[in-house]
Amino acid sequence: MEIKQEELKILYSEKEIQQKIEELALKLNDLYQDEEVTVICTLKGAVMFTTDLVRKFNFPVKMEFIRLSSYGSGTTSSGKVNAVDIKLPDLNGKNTLIIEDIIDTGLTAKFLIDFVNLNFHVKSLKFCSLLDKKISRKVDIHPDYYCFETDDKFVVGYGLDYDGYFRNLPYIAYKD
Ligand code: IMP
Repeated sequence: MEIKQEELKILYSEKEIQQKIEELALKLNDLYQDEEVTVICTLKGAVMFTTDLVRKFNFPVKMEFIRLSSYGSGTTSSGKVNAVDIKLPDLNGKNTLIIEDIIDTGLTAKFLIDFVNLNFHVKSLKFCSLLDKKISRKVDIHPDYYCFETDDKFVVGYGLDYDGYFRNLPYIAYKD
């Protein structure tokens, strides 16, 4: 499949995305209150979502970035999670919040949750994802928080890419 920008249809507008992020930030501000949280942003897809979300947090935040890949240049998951860069500081005793762009098969989310639990005794672990493609799930894993539930369309924009393109779009779109 090849995707050209003029063929894209908007699924969630910039305004809808920002509204959902506002609502999610309220929930997380309520959850953490004044507690410190280490946010783990999964590059590259979650970068826009993370940077918009953390700017609405009222609690002390430390930000970490890790890089995983499971898609390569296609539109379906390879079924294998590749940890490109997963260096993390000591998370023992820390509130930890993982931020993902989309949960599709769930393999990446499972890999990350298992990685954190195997290596650290965190104080709390929450997983939040901008999109939840529940229908494509291969492992029984669910985000604690998500903004939108999508069907099995391949989506781009607002951090999500096709072959490296479209991450810069302020909205989320799909090709019919
Ligand atoms: P999972 O391991 O199958 O849950 O896939 C998670 C990763 O696959 C996400 O972090 C994305 O990078 C990528 N991905 C899954 N679905 C899409 C999509 O519709 N568009 C772009 N990337 C996607």
